[in-house]
Amino acid sequence: MPLLDVQDLHVSFSMRQGMVRAVDGVSFTLEEGESLGLVGESGCGKTTAALSLLRLLPPNGRIDSGKILYQGRDVLTFTAEELRRFRWKEISIIFQGAMNALNPVQRVGDQIAEAIRLHQPVSEKDAGKQAQALLERVELEGRRVNDYPHEFSGGQRQRVMIAMALACRPRIVIGDEPTTALDVMVQAQIFELVESLRKELGMAMILITHDLSVLGDTCDRAAVMYAGQIVEIGPIETLFQTPCHPYARCLLRSFPRLQGSRSMADSIPGTPPNLIEVPPGCRFHPRCPEVMAICSREQPLLLERGPRHSVACHG
Ligand SMILES: Nc1ncnc2c1ncn2[C@@H]1O[C@H](COP(=O)(O)OP(=O)(O)O)[C@@H](O)[C@H]1O
Ligand SMILES: [Mg+2]
Repeated sequence: MPLLDVQDLHVSFSMRQGMVRAVDGVSFTLEEGESLGLVGESGCGKTTAALSLLRLLPPNGRIDSGKILYQGRDVLTFTAEELRRFRWKEISIIFQGAMNALNPVQRVGDQIAEAIRLHQPVSEKDAGKQAQALLERVELEGRRVNDYPHEFSGGQRQRVMIAMALACRPRIVIGDEPTTALDVMVQAQIFELVESLRKELGMAMILITHDLSVLGDTCDRAAVMYAGQIVEIGPIETLFQTPCHPYARCLLRSFPRLQGSRSMADSIPGTPPNLIEVPPGCRFHPRCPEVMAICSREQPLLLERGPRHSVACHG
């Protein structure tokens, strides 16, 4: 049994203009200790998929159907109490901007200690000690437990966020573009830190990133999302060396590794579709350089092309 088994997940947001089908039939598995990358242009549903795993959607969001099996149990059937025990303890998330996730008027040590005490029957004093140790783990000085979020630099705050995410030693940690706002040197340090902690603690990871070098360095497998769906998923080497889906090819091959460019997708003309009204057939067909007649008529299924490698394309 995989650690996590997501089956045909559908998630929508209700808007005045209609339903935004942000995640539209996504399935994937995650094994114990494995690291899965999630890539795709902005607006393709990556964050929504990640938040759904924790049932942390904003109020206008809804999981319409599907299953999220964690160790065989469907997270969608959890009671409020079961969810409380599940979040942070089993799966935690490092958000894009730490400032939004941290309470500005509470000392960071207290925030970490609170997270620990939600899940472990330890005294306030012991939780405080653990918080200090956690800060040291993320290479901050332990005495900084007494500081407030604004007293940290952006990179340091992201380290605090990582300490929070690891506080309860979850089995899975999700990183949603965890370093996007930081400068390149700090990004590299943070990724190194996350990766070493992840290996040490044996955690599985779902990493959403625009940085293909990070993807290549840290992920065992990757899923490419387009317009709310996975169009290709497979081992990272396969995706880098022989991507099959034209979208994945544009995305992953456009990366000029030697020049150190960190951008992707700038070579694909056009933009992803509005998810209130998606194109018929393959959603990528209006932008696809290899479009065929069938592509606008029939939606391709995600079919296996090789070991653990699946592609949704008529070509
Ligand atoms: N709270 C929301 N209300 C309405 N639409 C939303 C909301 N959050 C995200 N969306 C829409 O859902 C789609 C997927 O967004 P998101 O999951 O944030 O994509 P990504 O993380 O890949 O950039 C987009 O069309 C986005 O506009
Ligand atoms: Mg996002």
